Amino acid sequence: MAAMQNERLQAFVDEVAARTDLLQVVQAYVPLKRKGGRYWGCCPFHQEKTPSFSVEPEKGFFYCFGCHAGGNAFKFLSLIENISYFDAIKLQAEKLGIEMPRRKLSPAEEKRERERKDLLRVNEMARDFFHNCLTLTKIGEPGRAYLAKRGITEATIKAFSLGFAPPAWDKLSAAFQKRGVTEQLLLGSGLCLPRREGGGIYDRFRGRMMIPIADERGRVVGFGGRVLDDSVPKYLNTPETVLFNKRYLLFGLDRAHHAIVREGYAIIVEGYMDAIAVFGAGVENVVATLGTAFTQEHAKKLMRYATRLIFCYDSDEAGQSATIRALSILQNTGAEVSVLRVPDGKDPDEFIRKNGADAFRALTKQAVSLVDFRMEYVLSHTRHDTLSGKVQALHQMGPVFQGMRGGAMRTEYIKRLSSALMLEEDVVRDELARGTGYVEAEPARSPIRREVRRVDTALDKAGRVLIRLASEDSGKLSAAEAIVPLESVLGSVQLEIIAALKKGLPATELQGSLSDGASAELSRALVDEGLLAGRTEEEAWRDALRVLKKAYLNQQYMEHSQLAEKYLEAGNPAYRVELQRVEAIKHELEEMESV
Ligand code: CTP
Ligand code: MN
Repeated sequence: MAAMQNERLQAFVDEVAARTDLLQVVQAYVPLKRKGGRYWGCCPFHQEKTPSFSVEPEKGFFYCFGCHAGGNAFKFLSLIENISYFDAIKLQAEKLGIEMPRRKLSPAEEKRERERKDLLRVNEMARDFFHNCLTLTKIGEPGRAYLAKRGITEATIKAFSLGFAPPAWDKLSAAFQKRGVTEQLLLGSGLCLPRREGGGIYDRFRGRMMIPIADERGRVVGFGGRVLDDSVPKYLNTPETVLFNKRYLLFGLDRAHHAIVREGYAIIVEGYMDAIAVFGAGVENVVATLGTAFTQEHAKKLMRYATRLIFCYDSDEAGQSATIRALSILQNTGAEVSVLRVPDGKDPDEFIRKNGADAFRALTKQAVSLVDFRMEYVLSHTRHDTLSGKVQALHQMGPVFQGMRGGAMRTEYIKRLSSALMLEEDVVRDELARGTGYVEAEPARSPIRREVRRVDTALDKAGRVLIRLASEDSGKLSAAEAIVPLESVLGSVQLEIIAALKKGLPATELQGSLSDGASAELSRALVDEGLLAGRTEEEAWRDALRVLKKAYLNQQYMEHSQLAEKYLEAGNPAYRVELQRVEAIKHELEEMESV
């Protein structure tokens, strides 16, 4: 069966290749001139004024003498359209009218396909509905006023198809049902909710400005809705649907990817309003996460277009520690990461509103390297006036030093670090050479510090138990996530596995899709005999969740105590709120201890 499938697929690829005319493919994008047996043009993959891009139709290859891009027709299409090699073949097949041999879908698969299509269609309708409501109707007036107040231009409204959801309970549901959209589909898309009593449905998004969220191919998969005033929640998003998964989605990628390739880097911001403002300021290589942590999936997606990533998160404490977390996700991915700090205002959007687009563009040139950022963060988050604090700071700096290329740079940073910590350079060098593992920010003087160290390895095991049991039933993961945000307690390797499990891949494909480290960890979780340690699965699961929850609370405890301390030192009365939080967390930890 499989062999037959492969043969048919190969025959299909062969046919598309045979009927593809490289010259024709390239000329659809690049004007070419004949010279000798070759054709020449200006390379579409880098900036140039004199042609160094050549095509040899006889051999079926293109090559650029400037940037060394090269390959066959499919490679060309995949590069210029930013699609995978296989998608390039499919695209070309479509152009040539060659039908792809399709595996017969199972009834379940067919049903899922149909569902996806229906959801996409209803989302597209909703985007138009909200957009028309904003731009064409009287009901849209408050939305227009709000956007004008935020300095969002008509051009941006159009470019992002921004919209407005009417304040009434049933405008969208009534209009769509009249047009034949089923109640089930409206519920499935997250656009509507079931009424508590008396049956029927009502609109989820009311009286909000609406931001359509597209996947990288520009298909609308969900919405964000922002209130026009200070009421809460400030943002309401489409709930998770088969189309809408925040772990994978990056707002704006569909518009940004050309610019990301062109500029050679991507800017990542925290909120879609930031992305919209930055894009509106003429910096188009920008994407936003959707109110979740930056994941490995996000990294993978972006790195298809560029390996340089610049984080420009909010300048508040939350934004800065989210940056640190994103940076640790990106370790060992080959990404070249830097950080852009917004000096004036809470976030890029505010900065642009205050200082204008030019100022922001100038700012993008001032991103600091990962090492500088990490160093500053570590120095301000450890009490390096004590010896243990100094050692801790060194440990936290270890990983960035490991990834550092070039001896001169290393020497320079060792110099800076030793003078900041008031240690001999040799001591610093030795300590770093010892290659201590990655220790996440731990404040000194935490009463539960010892505990944290112990929990650290228990944490690995708990993660493994989670993975083992979730590999049989990936539904368990959402249950776990409801209790503790896994991305803040588990390491990147385990998170990679968990992300893959969530996709529900069969075991073989799962292994194939994982990095070497993750695939090794998964095997370990599956075969480790001591893991359940005589407990039933049920017990092991409960214990694992407890460990994770405790680690999370400890983390929170530390974060907030640090914050309290910082505020206290700065004479900022906000320290009281932080201390209350710390107390509450401590209480919760004690509760856990006592059961
Ligand atoms: N977010 C969310 N739900 C909330 C608050 C925030 O989903 N109640 C997510 C949104 O994706 C938002 C991002 O977190 O874009 C950043 O939040 P925040 O910094 O509070 O919003 P801003 O981007 O600053 O929004 P605005 O400028 O409109 O206040
Ligand atoms: Mn903002």
